[in-house]
Amino acid sequence: MTYTSQPHDFSDKRAGYEQLAAQLQGLLHGEADAIANAANTAALIFDALPEVSWAGFYFLREGELVVGPFQGKPACVRIALGHGVCGTAAARRQTLIVPDVNAFPGHIACDSASQSEVVVPLIAADRVVGVLDLDSARLARFDEADARGLEGLATLFLQASRLEDLL
Ligand code: SME
Repeated sequence: MTYTSQPHDFSDKRAGYEQLAAQLQGLLHGEADAIANAANTAALIFDALPEVSWAGFYFLREGELVVGPFQGKPACVRIALGHGVCGTAAARRQTLIVPDVNAFPGHIACDSASQSEVVVPLIAADRVVGVLDLDSARLARFDEADARGLEGLATLFLQASRLEDLL
């Protein structure tokens, strides 16, 4: 596997995410280990997307979200379902775009520099197995195009990975 960091042009977000999806498919090809794939998915997203301060995974373990592979500053380890942006997205099984984290009731501030956030729930075999979480130091960094693009990347991660590693 070789990976060369490429400058991505996200002025057209849809096109940017399509390129990123093709790169992710290449990166995950032939590997099913979920932790290895989560690590490379987080690294690719963090490397490619502008203005992202944290990108990574939380996985559901015995009813709680527990931090998984990520890039960025050290993060809170455990988040209860229904708490914070991550726990709310997982409980609702819905992608959440939060333009201003300080206005989100119950937001968990791991990094005080974080201003906006997007969280995509990971659903496999009709079960929430975790979330993909991105933070930014810029207010309203994430929009619907980011949400759809990241949902696509999360699906590629789930399709490539052995679900028993996550269930
Ligand atoms: N802000 C998140 C916690 C996780 S960190 O952002 C990495 C939340 O409110 O769930």
